[in-house]
Amino acid sequence: MQTTLSELQQLLLVKAQQAQAHAHAPYSHFKVGAALIDNGSQTHIGCNVENAAYPLGQCAEASAIGMMVVNGGSKIREILIASPNDDFCSPCGGCRQKIAEFADKNTLVHMATQQGELKTVKFSELLPLAFGFDKD
Ligand code: THU
Repeated sequence: MQTTLSELQQLLLVKAQQAQAHAHAPYSHFKVGAALIDNGSQTHIGCNVENAAYPLGQCAEASAIGMMVVNGGSKIREILIASPNDDFCSPCGGCRQKIAEFADKNTLVHMATQQGELKTVKFSELLPLAFGFDKD
């Protein structure tokens, strides 16, 4: 666990927590925020957006990825997920596959507790042997 954050980690944490404040989570009451930096050094944020038809809910990571794509980004350099409690919020399986679409071997995933403690892993550790077509 990491308690001293780099400037970029601090920026992603603040942005993810700003997004988290807007989460629409009236069913789970589990508000999540995400912030990522792309290959063009632009940052994008997202929150979870739940729905009365439960399976239609969208995770915070997916919202942030959508923002990146609509703004022209194509690679995730680092992504941070802000948890609503003192546990790290690890991206769900579906989000791992969504991140995989825009990740490379250097992509980092930071998980932050509510208090701002960080755990960082390489994306490749979270989803080894991810499904994908060979695009490069
Ligand atoms: N959730 C996220 O937004 N990201 C994650 O990494 C894990 C789970 C959301 C989905 C749902 O709205 C709520 O948290 C509870 O599962």
